[in-house]
Amino acid sequence: MGEIDLNQKLDELKQIKNSFEQDLAACSSPKELEQVRIKYLSKKGLLQSQFSLLGKLPPEDRPAIGRELNTLRTSFQQALKSRAEELEQLERQKEKIDVTLPGYVPFIGRLHPITQTLEEIKDIFSEMGFSIEEGPEVETDYYNFEALNIPPDHPAREMHDTFYLDNRLLLRTHTSPVQIRVMEKREPPIRMIAPGRCYRKDTPDASHSPFFHQVEGLCVDTDVSFADLKGIIAIFAKKMFGEDVKIRFRPSYFPFTEPSAECDMTCIICKGEGCKTCKNSGWLEISGAGMVDPEVFRYVGYDPEKYSGYAFGMGVERIAMLKYGINDIRYFFDNDLRFLEQF
Ligand code: PHE
Repeated sequence: MGEIDLNQKLDELKQIKNSFEQDLAACSSPKELEQVRIKYLSKKGLLQSQFSLLGKLPPEDRPAIGRELNTLRTSFQQALKSRAEELEQLERQKEKIDVTLPGYVPFIGRLHPITQTLEEIKDIFSEMGFSIEEGPEVETDYYNFEALNIPPDHPAREMHDTFYLDNRLLLRTHTSPVQIRVMEKREPPIRMIAPGRCYRKDTPDASHSPFFHQVEGLCVDTDVSFADLKGIIAIFAKKMFGEDVKIRFRPSYFPFTEPSAECDMTCIICKGEGCKTCKNSGWLEISGAGMVDPEVFRYVGYDPEKYSGYAFGMGVERIAMLKYGINDIRYFFDNDLRFLEQF
């Protein structure tokens, strides 16, 4: 008899447990949770009221049922507590979503200031009918030096602190080898620029970097004069920096041009008045230039009696620094987003 009573009681308790679990899972607010607590754990609740029925059970069954009731009560209390915490957390998350806020703006990348400057230089020269050429950054001694009239023991080699590689290869120290490569392949007339990266074993400081960019220019035809060179550089400087910019040429020396010159333009920081950037001269150097040396024409098989040409080579970092008012070349290569995001 006692046996049957006990099993029935345990079944009854199991049903209470199942329905409690269902009710708990259906709860979606602290209010509903409180209803569940009242339904099961209040004085007249489904579980609590079982305690008052204990006295009606056969004495030998009371301890077992009593234990079971205590266990259930503790587990109900715990389940209610953790469900309350869950609901609270969900509530907090809901608060965070404010549909009236503007969406996240995706981060948009941009071109590096040197790339932007290169694009601008290319546009200016393309408009004037110059083709855009490229050459390898790993060069041979022949193209980087020899065919440019810089034989092995020439002192000009010292100005180019060269990175040498295996097999008599090197990293080009300027873009002038592209002149040779283009002239070898083509007959005049030639009007080209060659933008690209160059390397020199320089210790980095505010105005030196072991790698940098140049834009080479070359024009070869039957009647090219120094006046053409001056004209082209003047137009370029005005398009790049504004109509007020003036240019001047100072005599200089390069083994592959004769005569050779350094080209300066009005300091755009002080407008020619004299300042720290231009060392009080009012002028800034932007390009090496000159008339192609007949010796170079001989290397590529052009007749120096028939053709003449000019060439120039300008530093792209230098131009970008002037254009954007940057006083240290290293900023370009530090990859600091705070710097790059300004362009
Ligand atoms: N290649 C020279 C340099 O790197 C610049 C230059 C180019 C000068 C073309 C004259 C003509 O210094």
